[in-house]
Amino acid sequence: MSTRKILVTSALPYANGPIHIGHLVEYIQTDIWVRFQKQRGNLCYYVCADDTHGTPIMLRADMEGITPEALISKVSKEHQADFDEFGVAFDNYHSTHSEENKTLSSLIYERLRDAGHINSRTITQGYDPVKKMFLSDRFIKGDCPKCGAVEQYGDGCEVCGSTYSPTDLKNAVSAISGAKPVPKDSVHYFFNLENFNDMLRDWTTAGHLQPEISNKLAEWLDGGLKQWDISRDAPYFGFEIPDAPGKYFYVWLDAPIGYMASFKNLCDKQGLDFDEFWRKDSEAELYHFIGKDIIYFHALFWPAMLSGAQFRTPSAIFAHGFLTVNGEKMSKSRGTFIKARTYLDHLNPEYLRYYFAAKLSAGVDDIDLNFDDFSQRVNSDLVGKVVNIASRCSGFISKRFANRLSENCSEPELFADFVNANPTIAELYETREFAKAMREIMALADKANAYIDDKKPWLLAKEEGKDQELHDVCSMGLNLFRVLTAYLKPVLPTLVKEAEQFLAIESQLWVADMQPLKGHSINEFKPLMTRVEADKIAAIIDASKENLEKTSDKSKIEPKAKQFEEIAHTIQIDDFAKLDLRIAKIIKAESMPEADKLLKLTVDIGDETRTVFAGIKSAYKPEDLEGRLTLVLANLAPRKMKFGLSEGMVLAAGPGGKDIFVLSPDEGAIAGMRVK
Ligand code: MSP
Ligand code: ZN
Repeated sequence: MSTRKILVTSALPYANGPIHIGHLVEYIQTDIWVRFQKQRGNLCYYVCADDTHGTPIMLRADMEGITPEALISKVSKEHQADFDEFGVAFDNYHSTHSEENKTLSSLIYERLRDAGHINSRTITQGYDPVKKMFLSDRFIKGDCPKCGAVEQYGDGCEVCGSTYSPTDLKNAVSAISGAKPVPKDSVHYFFNLENFNDMLRDWTTAGHLQPEISNKLAEWLDGGLKQWDISRDAPYFGFEIPDAPGKYFYVWLDAPIGYMASFKNLCDKQGLDFDEFWRKDSEAELYHFIGKDIIYFHALFWPAMLSGAQFRTPSAIFAHGFLTVNGEKMSKSRGTFIKARTYLDHLNPEYLRYYFAAKLSAGVDDIDLNFDDFSQRVNSDLVGKVVNIASRCSGFISKRFANRLSENCSEPELFADFVNANPTIAELYETREFAKAMREIMALADKANAYIDDKKPWLLAKEEGKDQELHDVCSMGLNLFRVLTAYLKPVLPTLVKEAEQFLAIESQLWVADMQPLKGHSINEFKPLMTRVEADKIAAIIDASKENLEKTSDKSKIEPKAKQFEEIAHTIQIDDFAKLDLRIAKIIKAESMPEADKLLKLTVDIGDETRTVFAGIKSAYKPEDLEGRLTLVLANLAPRKMKFGLSEGMVLAAGPGGKDIFVLSPDEGAIAGMRVK
């Protein structure tokens, strides 16, 4: 097998917030894959960086009263400390605000421009006359033109889900200064994605993408490619466009180039050949691990940019799904928006590495962290199965045989079974089917435990003349344990390192022609992992609870373009099953003088009473509503609105105005009845 040359990246985390356990799905997934490649003897580099540019970072620095540079340097240190403690071992961690990135971004832009892929034209945008800056859709807030919900963003309403342009918002204000935005013209630069239509059709169907992603892209391509606006006006924290003073590259232009820049930085430090990995005919492999929310940028813009600028395109893009906690989106109010640091304050990071490995596949399905399942898996698999093998055998080896293993391998076939599982497990790691790999490994652990159960060393120890057998059985157990640790090494680097110290062996390469240890001296056994304690989990959730006031404040500077968050337009029956629809009885309906459209409803949903704000003032008088039944979505995350917390949604039908219908006059219905 010849050595492969592989360059791997994870998406660059934004420098305006901390790493949370959702991010960690990606960094742990990538790290496991990279560690596996290295253990196999491949030449593999794993690079990443902080994504430092853009308005949100500029505003956050402003809010904290520091310069953007000071902010990104502080956050970079925090990010790297978090990654380090989770065992995410980058070969290089850089910043998009770097010389390398500036040079490469300019180079790519100039090559695209010279090849005729850049246009410019004047556009009109909302402008904040107080802050003296243009406002992207995310920074304009107002009342939803459809449902009247207050404090909605310029691109869509989070209450009713409708999308619109910021000019449709009622009472629009700048989310930054509160001033009324004024329309203003400005020249923008566009990347002409249409020029890459054919190239992208080929590329997205040539095996570089997971099948479900490839299908999604075919839809996007059929819908036609638009020109991509790559410029932003000053003030902007970013790189100035070389031939356009006062104009800056949009953060998403220089962000993926940050992958190259981080690698360039590594090349300069280690004397590696940058071009060998990036030139058009490169034979090195290039993989990007990303979340499904940023596919558009990585599978359309990025390959088009690279190809237009005469660089190689990625070998593959590996997208993963989103993390949910206990079946729901991470939520600050439920205490499930868990920062990496909060987790580290209470629990062993390798628990989470194992749990994610045990859940991850090669697909883009969301993965759920369920804390009961988490404790159960870690306790039963790692503590109860794997570590247990060593603790069951090591005591006798220490007390009776001076920590020296037997000269015999008493069960060569059993040992061979363990070693022969290696191509299967390797293939599962290679194809990112980590959950399946963990199942194979745990099946072997079960086999090892069954062997020990069968031989009963604790009885042999009490019998006369069974010393040799006791020695052989315990040595065999430890040899099997050793193979398991080699298989688990990509997932549990710290535990396995300690196991290697216990076994007094070198850092293990991939299991291929491994021989049993015979007559080998080992070290005293120390417990390698303890059980997950329930009170630690409770403490994490407790420490993660923030009040909702703060949350709505932070969402002001949430950067992500939301429109690509979901890659599927249709939902499955499972998604529908998540909706908790109830018949609710309206106990009280109140009109609020300050609200044009909203009524405040107190509804009985069977097991509790809730407050829900509904945009139905135009159709109903409050007094006509009391005592009647309506349909309520009961498990919608609570939302803080101007008038209070809304704890559900009333479902209505009709074109609007006077014709909105929310009521079921069905006499037979009972409040709390579930409607599915
Ligand atoms: N800065 C951009 C990426 C630029 S790459 C050239 C970005 N940053 S991010 O901090 O929002 O996200 C970083 C990565 O973490 C993304 O791949 C994103 O999909 C992933 N995740 C963020 N939240 C996540 C979950 N809740 N679950 C799984 N992955 C998540 O996007
Ligand atoms: Zn709305």
